[in-house]
Amino acid sequence: MNDLMEKIVSLCKRRGFVYPSSEIYGGFANIYDFGPLGSLLAKNIRDVWIKKMVQERNDIYLIDGSILMHPKSWEASGHTVAFTDPLIQCQGCKKRFRADKLEGWKLEKDNQTGKWNVLKQGTLICPDCNGKLIPEIKEFNLLMTTSVGSVEGEKTKVYLKGESCQNIYLDFLPIRDTMGVKIPFGVAQIGKTFRNEITLGKFLFKVREFEQMDIEYFCSPEKAKELYEEWKNIRFNWYIDTIGLNKSNLRWRQHSPEERIFYARDAWDIEYKFFGEFEELEGIHDRSDYDLKQHGKFSGKELDYFDPVSKTRFIPNIIECSGGLQRTFLAVLAESYREEEVNNEKRVFLKIKPSLSPYKIAVFPLVANKDNLVEKAKDVFNLLKPEFMTMWDSIGNIGKRYRRQDEIGTPWCITIDYQTLEDDTVTIRDRDTMEQQRIKIEEIVRLIKERLHV
Ligand code: GAP
Repeated sequence: MNDLMEKIVSLCKRRGFVYPSSEIYGGFANIYDFGPLGSLLAKNIRDVWIKKMVQERNDIYLIDGSILMHPKSWEASGHTVAFTDPLIQCQGCKKRFRADKLEGWKLEKDNQTGKWNVLKQGTLICPDCNGKLIPEIKEFNLLMTTSVGSVEGEKTKVYLKGESCQNIYLDFLPIRDTMGVKIPFGVAQIGKTFRNEITLGKFLFKVREFEQMDIEYFCSPEKAKELYEEWKNIRFNWYIDTIGLNKSNLRWRQHSPEERIFYARDAWDIEYKFFGEFEELEGIHDRSDYDLKQHGKFSGKELDYFDPVSKTRFIPNIIECSGGLQRTFLAVLAESYREEEVNNEKRVFLKIKPSLSPYKIAVFPLVANKDNLVEKAKDVFNLLKPEFMTMWDSIGNIGKRYRRQDEIGTPWCITIDYQTLEDDTVTIRDRDTMEQQRIKIEEIVRLIKERLHV
């Protein structure tokens, strides 16, 4: 494991950002829980995504679709057949690997049948035990299944969402008919996705249950190319301006025709340099009219749009921007983790954008055993709590409390001391510069609100 990644995994566990799911049973299948701090960071990422992509625009509608959908939708979408990885197994340790990720292998998929054709055979040595890999490629479908129904034997097999966006295509018709939409318009959704991934690892980077933040932008076929470029820019800049990732850690990568997923006419990834290696953070896909055509065919409904200006009826094209919440979360931590030496001691801090920090403020009484200080600090705490996520800390000395807040990225710490009792002023200490400033209690809310909007 990369050194930085190891530090982040440890911090996440130690400070309540991320826990392995079902850890008392030994953990489960590369699935993780967001802990108390992680839930707040994840919520803040979702919130700034909704704010920028929905609230600040007037052409995007937010939905929150179900996880379980009619099983036919996954046949129509092509996932029951074509959503496969080529699997190869070791004779010795029985471990399974993705053949297309092994040294020397080149494969091509037939999206009609889901069959993988081997263009070039590569290594047959197991990367784990050096045993022999069985030279046979098996199609492995990534969809997870469950069943619905109350009578045993009559239950219907259904799929968990293999890509979260599918509800958006199914809801195209009611949105078109109830919201008075005009093309181009988009539908946004943040939703759970489940994939039976073969190769896992890298902590939150590749997991079997995760959330996707999707925008499906419906447009005329003529406008698709231009809007594709527009959306590429919007999404790339969101990671820099709103999430705070460094531009030098981001880049574009276009998918080759062999690699491209079956529904895409063109596909570009926004990649982030995760622990030294550029890897996918978000996929931007030109899905053409594939989705509405397929669901139209399978449902027998006309999933089209009548343009009152050109007086033409057409099946809209879709530009898709699909980002991963877990990967954004991991990128935020990787980008913001800092270590420095202060007074011969190591200081670890998360230089997260304040809008994303789990807690915005921590309030400390200078000492915990003086009732009048504690009481005054409680007054300040109660004043701030309705406005911001505010943490109370009265354990240990002030230096230790600063370090604890630094480690979880709290941008401001407020200390109530003896002077506060005399003149209603407090010290406010900045996480990044460690500078302290004396301000009036009545000014705190305004000041923090101003800084949060920077
Ligand atoms: N609807 C389009 C779609 O599903 P994708 O490129 O397969 O496209 C979109 O996924 C995003 O979802 C990825 O860019 C990544 O951020 C996230 N993602 C995909 N698989 C993941 C996994 N196993 N674990 C965590 N995040 C994943």
